[in-house]
Amino acid sequence: MEFPFNINHLFSERFSILDKTLVAGRMSPRRPELQSHIATVIDELGRASAKAQKLTTPVTSATKMQSQHHQLYLMKDGESQGYIVMLIAATLHLCLHVEAEPLCVLDFFITENLQRHGHGLELFHFMLQHKKMEPALMAYDRPSPKLLSFLAKHYRLTQSVPQVRFVDFLVSVLNAFSST
Ligand code: ACO
Repeated sequence: MEFPFNINHLFSERFSILDKTLVAGRMSPRRPELQSHIATVIDELGRASAKAQKLTTPVTSATKMQSQHHQLYLMKDGESQGYIVMLIAATLHLCLHVEAEPLCVLDFFITENLQRHGHGLELFHFMLQHKKMEPALMAYDRPSPKLLSFLAKHYRLTQSVPQVRFVDFLVSVLNAFSST
């Protein structure tokens, strides 16, 4: 994934956490051109993730980020232009048979040619530490086969089954309740 600007000027650390302000780390909020570059990165990652999952509309976009209380975790390569990958999470209030506010993984994307190199695990692990969270207590929105395989391999999570939107939330919420 290439950009007409240096991503190291936008993201100084290996990991960045973005919220609706689209301000990364110690970046000055008074640098609108940097925020517009960050919006470009988010939109590009969101489109690539949607394409990888065969979704018609991206789950992740800068505009959605600016209007919602989501957190976007980015990880970049330390060298030159390197790579950049993302995971987006939010605490959502779900009202199904039970009410709960689990932390949900909404979108997770590692560039195609970088998959299966452990980058997903590194970014996911960073998010878990930051949120002080266990994978079994989280919900996963429409998990893709690759994500299900990822969760089974790294965290032995195998109970969630691919179904329509929100059913997986329920499965995961119920798992969380039954494991307490
Ligand atoms: N096919 C099947 N399983 C895969 C694949 C693949 N192409 N890629 C990764 N995995 C799973 C496997 O369990 C793999 O272990 P294995 O190689 O021994 O079979 C394991 O992930 C590898 O772990 P990492 O290297 O840490 O994972 P990676 O960096 O590839 O990131 C991710 C995993 C994010 C799912 C990545 O494959 C990806 O971006 N896929 C495309 C987009 C996608 O499906 N995102 C999830 C959307 S659903 C949601 O976000 C709620």
